[in-house]
Amino acid sequence: MTTDPSERTVLISGGASGLGEVTALWFLGLGYPVVVLDLDAEKCEAMTEHLGDRGAVVCGNVLDDADVQRAIDAARTFGELRWVIACAGGGEVGGRIVGKGGVPHDMGIFQRTLELNVTGSFNTLRLAAAAMSENDPDPDGERGAALLVTSGAGFEGQIGQIAYGSAKSALIGMTLIAARDLSSVGIRVNAIAPGVMNTSAWEQGPPELKAALESTVPFPKRLGEPEEFARLAEHLLANRYMNGHVARLDGALRFAPK
Ligand SMILES: NC(=O)c1ccc[n+]([C@@H]2O[C@H](COP(=O)([O-])OP(=O)(O)OC[C@H]3O[C@@H](n4cnc5c(N)ncnc54)[C@H](O)[C@@H]3O)[C@@H](O)[C@H]2O)c1
Repeated sequence: MTTDPSERTVLISGGASGLGEVTALWFLGLGYPVVVLDLDAEKCEAMTEHLGDRGAVVCGNVLDDADVQRAIDAARTFGELRWVIACAGGGEVGGRIVGKGGVPHDMGIFQRTLELNVTGSFNTLRLAAAAMSENDPDPDGERGAALLVTSGAGFEGQIGQIAYGSAKSALIGMTLIAARDLSSVGIRVNAIAPGVMNTSAWEQGPPELKAALESTVPFPKRLGEPEEFARLAEHLLANRYMNGHVARLDGALRFAPK
């Protein structure tokens, strides 16, 4: 058993962009090898340069078992796969369940959103957990820890977010079940539910929308910084008594119905 960070790898799905990217660089800065699994080839290329020889990027899909396994195998070339963050996720604009002119919600959008967020995160979790279950246990029996990424929309999803909100609610529900289930192999499972975060995606968005959102956050009156997400991820993965917990990271923001 090793406690040397340089021999304990962190696997991050969706780690080539946004919260995952900043978190990957955060853990790299702490001395952990980092393996990123991401679908976006261009972003994967940029991330490969950032990680250098202290990590690896696997360009692939969280829904593809072989891709996830390639990422796990890559992680194990640096040492034990000890921590996994299932960050790949997101949603398409779906609209109301019954839209203008009585048109029902698009079924493809609903299914794709559940597939990416729920099935994709579960696939990452189950395959990484199987690998981590082979690790030597720490003194109190821990073999690894996992982090799911849900959203404030999983607690109070807004009108128009039925697909994304339902998917993120499922991840909130999954957290405790997974923590209980994986207790038999010494793996903890927690989740982060971000509110609205100041990722680079905002560079393209209208500044008025960002300002309007900031004004709805009770305190501090701004969006969350990706580094604040990374810091919380580190804590939930490292604190050995945190288990089955969904931590909101949102400045006390609670989304209104719309
Ligand atoms: N940014 C926010 O304000 C916010 C708020 C709440 C929750 N979240 C959640 O945090 C997570 C990260 O959000 P973000 O804003 O950083 O998103 P992002 O779009 O910047 O990054 C997501 C990454 O996931 C990758 N990805 C998408 N589908 C994939 C797949 N099938 N297989 C592998 N990789 C895939 C994308 O290529 C991308 O690099 C998501 O789960 C999102 O729902 C974000």
